[in-house]
Amino acid sequence: MENKKIVVGNMKMNLTAEEISDYLKEINGQVGSNRVVICPTSIYIPYFLKQDYLVGLQNTFLHESGAYTGEISPKQAASMGIAVTIIGHSERRMYFDEKDKLINEKVKEAIKQNLRVILCIGETAEERNMMRTEKVLRKQILGGLRGLEKDMFDNVILAYEPIWAIGTGEVPTNEEITKTIGYIKSLVLEIYDYESIPVLYGGSVTDKNIKELNKIPNVSGFLVGGASTKPKKFLKIIEVAVK
Ligand code: PGA
Repeated sequence: MENKKIVVGNMKMNLTAEEISDYLKEINGQVGSNRVVICPTSIYIPYFLKQDYLVGLQNTFLHESGAYTGEISPKQAASMGIAVTIIGHSERRMYFDEKDKLINEKVKEAIKQNLRVILCIGETAEERNMMRTEKVLRKQILGGLRGLEKDMFDNVILAYEPIWAIGTGEVPTNEEITKTIGYIKSLVLEIYDYESIPVLYGGSVTDKNIKELNKIPNVSGFLVGGASTKPKKFLKIIEVAVK
C-alpha cells in the first residue's frame, strides 16, 4: 500500500479571473501539503505562486526559447519556480494532434530543465472494448519515454487516464485500475529497469468516489479535472487522499 498520495488538479481552460480570485479565497490555506499540485490555466499561475501553492503547467513546449508564438518552455516554467508539467494529456493528443514522438521530445526537454513530468496515457472506449488497453498503453509508454536514461525516471510520474472516463462520470472498477497500474509498473520495470514508478489514476475522480478509489493498493495518487475547479470538492479529495 502506498501511503502518501499525490493529488494534481488539472483545471484545464476553466474559470475567469474573478472566479479564480474567489477560488483562492475559498481554498485559502487549507491545501496545506506539498503533495498537492495545482495546474490552473497558465495566465493565472502567478496568483497561485504568490500564495505559495505548488503549481504545474498543463503543457510545455519542446524548445527552450524562440519564435514559437503561444508556447511556454520548460526553461521559462523553471525560471518561475514551477516544478511540474503535464504532458500528453488526451485532450492535447485529440484536439492538437499530439503524437508520441512530439510528446517524447516535450518530456525530454522538461526533464532537462529538471521539471517533474506527468505523462498521461490511456485508452479510448473503442480500444477498451476491443481488449486493446495494454497494447495502447505499451505503445504510449514506449513512445513517450523513448531514449530516457535511467536517472531521468526520477522526474517521471505516469497518469493512467482512460479517455472514456474523463469528464463522463464513468470510472473503472478498483480491480480494473489495480490491474492496469500493475501492468504499467511491470512494463516500466521490464523495459527500463526502473522500479516503482509513481502511477496516478485520473478520470472522473470526485469527492464522492475518492474514498473508494483511495483503496486501490498500487495507486500513487490522483489527477483531478472537473472537481479541482470546485474548491469544496477538491479540498475533500485532498483530505481523503493526502492528509
Ligand atoms: P476529469 O478530468 O476529472 O474531469 O474526468 C481528468 C483529466 O482530464 O485529467
